[in-house]
Amino acid sequence: MAPAGALSELPLLLALLGALLPEPGDAQTSVFPTEATLPRGGSVLVNCSSTCEEEAFLGLETPLTKEERDTGHNWMVFELSDVEEDSKPMCFSICGSKQTTARISITVYRFPEHMELLPLPPWQPVGENLTLKCHVWGGAPRAQLTLVLLRGEEELSRQPAVGEPAEGTATVLAGRGDNGANFTCRAELDLRPQGLGFFQNTSAPRQLRTFVLPMTSPQLETPRILEVGTSEKVVCSMGGLFPASEAQVHLALGDHRLNTTVTYNEDSLSATAWVEGTAENKGDHLLVCAIMLGNQSQESWRNLTVYSFPAPNLTLSEQEVSEGTQVEVACEASAGLRVRLSVAPAEPWAPSVQFLLNATAEDNGRHFSCSAALEVAGHVLYKNQTKELRVLYGPRLDESDCLGNWTWPEETNQNLSCQAWGNPVPRLTCLRETDRAPLPIGDLRPVKKQYEGTYLCKAESPRGAVTRKVFLTVLTRKNVLIIVLLTAGAILGAVVVAICLYNRQRKIKIYKLLKAQEAAALKLKTQATPP
Ligand SMILES: *[C@@H]1O[C@H](CO)[C@@H](O)[C@H](O)[C@H]1NC(C)=O
Ligand SMILES: *[C@@H]1O[C@H](CO)[C@@H](O)[C@H](O)[C@H]1NC(C)=O
Ligand SMILES: *[C@@H]1O[C@H](CO)[C@@H](O)[C@H](O)[C@H]1NC(C)=O
Ligand SMILES: *[C@@H]1O[C@H](CO)[C@@H](O)[C@H](O)[C@H]1NC(C)=O
Ligand SMILES: *[C@@H]1O[C@H](CO)[C@@H](O)[C@H](O)[C@H]1NC(C)=O
Ligand SMILES: *[C@@H]1O[C@H](CO)[C@@H](O)[C@H](O)[C@H]1NC(C)=O
Ligand SMILES: *[C@@H]1O[C@H](CO)[C@@H](O)[C@H](O)[C@H]1NC(C)=O
Ligand SMILES: *[C@@H]1O[C@H](CO)[C@@H](O)[C@H](O)[C@H]1NC(C)=O
Ligand SMILES: *[C@@H]1O[C@H](CO)[C@@H](O)[C@H](O)[C@H]1NC(C)=O
Ligand SMILES: *[C@@H]1O[C@H](CO)[C@@H](O)[C@H](O)[C@H]1NC(C)=O
Ligand SMILES: *[C@@H]1O[C@H](CO)[C@@H](O)[C@H](O)[C@H]1NC(C)=O
Ligand SMILES: *[C@@H]1O[C@H](CO)[C@@H](O)[C@H](O)[C@H]1NC(C)=O
Repeated sequence: MAPAGALSELPLLLALLGALLPEPGDAQTSVFPTEATLPRGGSVLVNCSSTCEEEAFLGLETPLTKEERDTGHNWMVFELSDVEEDSKPMCFSICGSKQTTARISITVYRFPEHMELLPLPPWQPVGENLTLKCHVWGGAPRAQLTLVLLRGEEELSRQPAVGEPAEGTATVLAGRGDNGANFTCRAELDLRPQGLGFFQNTSAPRQLRTFVLPMTSPQLETPRILEVGTSEKVVCSMGGLFPASEAQVHLALGDHRLNTTVTYNEDSLSATAWVEGTAENKGDHLLVCAIMLGNQSQESWRNLTVYSFPAPNLTLSEQEVSEGTQVEVACEASAGLRVRLSVAPAEPWAPSVQFLLNATAEDNGRHFSCSAALEVAGHVLYKNQTKELRVLYGPRLDESDCLGNWTWPEETNQNLSCQAWGNPVPRLTCLRETDRAPLPIGDLRPVKKQYEGTYLCKAESPRGAVTRKVFLTVLTRKNVLIIVLLTAGAILGAVVVAICLYNRQRKIKIYKLLKAQEAAALKLKTQATPP
């Protein structure tokens, strides 16, 4: 039963003892068990025995704590306790003068005291390699200790434990699916050859977070200019994010962070904020949108100019004037600005502009506009103020507004227009002189004989009154016939006169011709009679 290892040392020892003790024998020392594997701090019973025929002296040589437990004829059982590390105690026996020995090989096994999966980066970009490292302290025997790295239940690598701490590594290409995955490290102590079983220790898990942030700038929609006292929307958005819901947005005007509302979609986000123009933030600013995901960020900048632009003050010396009154139209710009009046477009822009006007009826309802111009960041802005002038005039009832003499055939369709003008609008009354019947103004269809007459029209307003006579003549069918006949007669007469005149003219011409012929014949006669 003696192990080969223990036996191999014997010849040397025996040779040494043989030289000292000249009485050799064939007694042997043996130990049971010859190999033991026990947990650290554990104990083991060792039976040392001798084949000596006489009473042998038995002993166990070891630095370990030992205690005699049992004894018999040429055997002795010792208990070795608090075994902390591997050792090889030696049994010896002295038979007569001969000493022999046998060794027991004690292997201490222990579970790892501490094992740790080294911290993962808080965020791992998708598509980049990630190296996992596991450290294991303690654990023996090392030859039977294996380190395994796992993603969930999936084995990534397996390697023997070497060094202190023993290090196990694995490289994984981070994917979207690894977001939220738990990684662990496992130490496997396989003592099945020693008949003790298979033991596992697992490190605390570490969760990985992976992300995708495209290498593009966020889209930033902002106004270029902003007026003091107004608010404008700023929208910053980005797509292709993973996981979009984990992305953070920072929207700021200069150093002032904006109150931002973020809406997340499947793989994109959109952040909205209102930027307000105030007297305090007047000037040029940088508007920044930063989208942060994982340990990376992407930014966009835009320039924003906050300006103040008070409207010009347009004043009319009087808003409502009588015809013929002078009105002063004045426009004044606020400090640093220039203005121009719509009535004097050729005038240069100036800090203030005046215009004098002799109000006429045509100016009633006229709009005067004053524009102020301001250049902000390359944009020319205008602010206009408009006022309306009211001119008091009239009442007016002119020939053009109310034609005086109307002559219409009966039963025809006509339109009688008679309109008085003025501001305030005058009241127009047209009454027939004979019976005070009102003048039928507007569409007359058909015209009736009874409308005929002389009407007195009166236009009245607080500014006075004017009158005008309107003569309305309606031609009956008889009248019309007479007129037609008279006209025909006149035409006939004219034709007759024309014919008579023509005939007379012709007769004169024929007479003149005859006279000429006679004269020519006489001349021929005198020439044909020679002397
Ligand atoms: C110790 O070993 C001897 C010899 O092999 C044996 O006779 C004895 O019974 C053993 N003692 C115990 C307690 O097993
Ligand atoms: C982000 O983390 C990765 C992995 O830990 C690292 O390689 C990279 O340098 C980090 N980037 C920044 C901008 O911190
Ligand atoms: C990741 O590592 C593997 C080998 O472990 C290598 O083939 C691959 O090119 C690496 N990929 C990147 C993106 O570094
Ligand atoms: C990882 O572990 C955490 C808590 O320990 C758990 O909530 C999560 O679901 C695990 N992830 C996976 C992919 O199992
Ligand atoms: C390792 O595992 C063993 C049994 O599997 C257990 O008794 C021991 O406490 C574990 N050690 C640690 C450090 O978890
Ligand atoms: C931000 O906006 C929300 C809603 O738009 C509002 O309730 C909240 O008071 C605002 N916070 C600040 C600091 O202005
Ligand atoms: C903002 O304005 C500055 C000058 O005032 C200019 O240099 C810069 O290019 C502008 N930035 C953008 C994004 O327009
Ligand atoms: C304004 O015009 C009217 C009519 O043309 C004239 O009678 C009046 O004197 C003018 N007034 C002034 C102040 O020029
Ligand atoms: C315009 O008039 C208002 C009051 O009538 C005054 O407060 C303001 O300063 C004036 N603005 C300018 C540009 O003169
Ligand atoms: C204001 O006036 C300017 C020039 O006088 C003109 O171009 C612009 O259209 C006007 N704007 C409005 C809103 O009337
Ligand atoms: C209208 O005709 C009458 C004669 O019938 C004449 O006296 C008057 O002047 C005319 N009025 C106008 C405005 O032509
Ligand atoms: C009649 O004249 C008035 C004023 O001139 C005009 O408003 C109206 O449309 C005219 N009616 C017809 C039918 O022409």
